[in-house]
Amino acid sequence: MTSTTPPAPVPSSAPELFTWEFATDPYPAYAWLREHSPVHRTTLPSGVEAWLVTRYADAKQALADQRLSKNPVHHAGDEQTKGRTGIPGERKADLMTHLLNIDPPDHTRLRRLVSKAFTPRRVAAFAPRVQELTDQLIDSFAQKGSADLIHEFAFPLPIYAICDLLGVPPEDQDDFRDWAGMMIRHGGGPRGGVARSVKKMRGYLAELIHRKRAELPEHPAPDEDLLSGLIRASDHGEHLTENEAAAMAFILLFAGFETTVNLIGNGTYQLLRHPEQRARLQESLAAGERGLLETGVEELLRYDGPVELATWRFATQELTIGGQGIAVGDPVLVVLAAADRDPERFEQPDTLDLARRDNQHLGYGHGIHYCLGAPLARLEGQAALATLLTRLPDLRLTGEEGDLRWRGGLIMRGLRALPVEFTPER
Ligand code: HEM
Repeated sequence: MTSTTPPAPVPSSAPELFTWEFATDPYPAYAWLREHSPVHRTTLPSGVEAWLVTRYADAKQALADQRLSKNPVHHAGDEQTKGRTGIPGERKADLMTHLLNIDPPDHTRLRRLVSKAFTPRRVAAFAPRVQELTDQLIDSFAQKGSADLIHEFAFPLPIYAICDLLGVPPEDQDDFRDWAGMMIRHGGGPRGGVARSVKKMRGYLAELIHRKRAELPEHPAPDEDLLSGLIRASDHGEHLTENEAAAMAFILLFAGFETTVNLIGNGTYQLLRHPEQRARLQESLAAGERGLLETGVEELLRYDGPVELATWRFATQELTIGGQGIAVGDPVLVVLAAADRDPERFEQPDTLDLARRDNQHLGYGHGIHYCLGAPLARLEGQAALATLLTRLPDLRLTGEEGDLRWRGGLIMRGLRALPVEFTPER
């Protein structure tokens, strides 16, 4: 086990949150919160007041607590602050009824429906396509000797993968890439552009679903796409409205996109910072083994995962978390990144150990909203990291680590760019 960069010291007094330093390395501040104020009331940059839950045991309990609703109608804030707890533009575009914004029984019905279509089998059958996409993207920069791994690799891979899986025709996929790019670049920024992108995506999806429904063959082809599978599942028994179907496609794209970009980005970055760990992984890949890759991707999710805070929850009753009273209507944000470094749960939590076995991290959440796309994310993460390290074995960071910039979003943690150099492929 090794960590070449020692962790920054834990601050001695209450740290300032949501600053530039915090975005670069939030872990010392989270260590302070876990110890001194594990359920912490704070004002978010958007002006919304919320509780931050940072200990593993409290986080796990809160994620499974059904008194905490996912539906923003339960937020006690005024109309203005309520609007700041969703994806910008989403409400207007009528894409609210997706899995991450609803509770049982609607959640149970929609999750059952999508689970019928989004099966582990369908994902496993998709592995060769993910490998092909990964190789094609690496082909596009391998001979240059340098690249920005976020823009040229981590960003396009998941969007093309999800588009393919859903059944978005290849000729339309670049539009998706543009809309998604707008959302990721300006997630918390200029609302106009994001709202327009969401609206365009919503209109496109509605039309695509309409067309697929009209053209659906009586019996499914073996390689039927996910959207068709979803329509088929809904037509046989339980009902899925067109709006729910569009919202479902939207959340699959949205939840599966920036997360996977950041898994590849943060994961590669941490491997470059931990040369001994990376060398062990390269040796094991060269020997044709997969074990260290599989535990390694889980460890990278724990150590510096893409989802810093789980999505919004709102108290529907008075309750206590970790001894702290929470009032009806209060927003609760579970800090997955803090819980996953809790020394009460993980041995040497600030050490990256790709071979870590006892690793029930919360990077994919917990409870009924546990990540639906985890098998796809694992598939993409493993293919991306293994192929990069195998094809570009001397991959290294260009410039200084201190020059890297992190996106300042609330929910996600990820790099704006990851410039690298390597010996060009011949
Ligand atoms: C839910 C993480 C990739 C689809 C979640 C949640 C987390 C998460 C933490 C729970 C949020 C909460 O409880 O508030 C991740 C990470 C990923 C990833 C770290 C990549 C490394 C994907 C992919 C897809 C996807 C590739 C689909 C294509 C979903 C969906 C939900 C979800 C639909 C909502 C499930 C529900 O509410 O029942 N994800 N995700 N995710 N994820 Fe992922």
